Amino acid sequence: MIGSANSVCISITGLGCRVPARVVTNDDLSTMMDTNDEWIRERTGIRERRIAEPEEALSDLCLPACRDALEQAGLKPEQIDLIIVATVTPDMAFPSTGAILADQLGAPDAAAYDLSAGCTGFMYALAQGYGMLAGGLAQRALIVGGDVLSKIMDWTDRSTAVLFGDGAGAVVLERVPDGGFLGFELGADGSGGPQLYLPAGGSRTPASAESVADRMHYVQMNGREVFKFATRVLVSSAEAVLAECGRTIDDVDVYVPHQANVRIIEHARQKLGIPQEKTVVDVDRYGNTSSGSIPLALAEAKEDGRLSAGKLVLMTGMGAGLTWGSGLIEWTDGGSG
Ligand code: ACO
Repeated sequence: MIGSANSVCISITGLGCRVPARVVTNDDLSTMMDTNDEWIRERTGIRERRIAEPEEALSDLCLPACRDALEQAGLKPEQIDLIIVATVTPDMAFPSTGAILADQLGAPDAAAYDLSAGCTGFMYALAQGYGMLAGGLAQRALIVGGDVLSKIMDWTDRSTAVLFGDGAGAVVLERVPDGGFLGFELGADGSGGPQLYLPAGGSRTPASAESVADRMHYVQMNGREVFKFATRVLVSSAEAVLAECGRTIDDVDVYVPHQANVRIIEHARQKLGIPQEKTVVDVDRYGNTSSGSIPLALAEAKEDGRLSAGKLVLMTGMGAGLTWGSGLIEWTDGGSG
């Protein structure tokens, strides 16, 4: 799917993020499994990640992130009429974390649901929120991306456990006078599904004593294949959305790639020809937070002053599905609230 924005200007007017308090370093991991700081840093760029407490669920991270985003936009929860939560680790299969959040926030008029597109989920949710607002179905949306992947990691598997962390972010989408989203490109290649998946717990292989014993409730990944896929789509998707919107790579002020691995980001950055100083990298401190990755990186860029009104921001995600998605936005400050 690819498209550029019509005449309606819709933008991000508030942004909030949360990560769990507990920091787990590479050295901590080396006491739990056969790995070491040097291997993890060289192959991934990750130094540490945040890991949720046993009782901490996705909505516990999303709720304060949503409240911060609303405060920044100057809105009250009851003004929100759409909540989309992109995640592969909802609090439970149902009700949706979106519905849980709508209740906890106090947004009784909101349509609220979850969306599953792996680590690309936040980009899919942004595009969907944009479409709902542009079509006039909704006026003010909360788009949330987050995961608590530590709960679905096999902590005896060093090839996956060292890569991921927990985190969530939320943005408010509203109509604005100028600027905002220029376009999106989204895609999915289901034939690559088995490269990154969680086999049990659905209707194909329901939870059972056998599936648990076979460790089928944990993430399974072919790292090399995902690496090749990631480096390819980060480039092709970014180029596609730029061409669709009539922009070039030189127009991009801030590049926000999915934070999976420094080597993947570096490959895409060089292939696209984006200078290092325009590229946001925080994977060293958070690991791969899946759907939380892009909002956390946006918050990082806002914090260090790179995100300001008028800046052209290119975001690209990729992940399980296999899926990918890019969005281009001319950043704006402030909302209607
Ligand atoms: N510590 C120490 N050694 C390890 C570890 C570890 N944590 N993990 C693997 N190794 C060993 C392997 O066993 C292997 O040993 P061997 O040569 O004796 O067999 C060796 O290190 C090399 O393993 P490779 O898998 O070839 O290492 P590679 O350089 O490919 O890096 C990695 C692996 C980091 C997983 C890389 O393939 C990668 O980043 N892939 C993409 C993963 C990813 O980003 N997934 C998520 C994207 S989508 C989403 O966000 C959901």
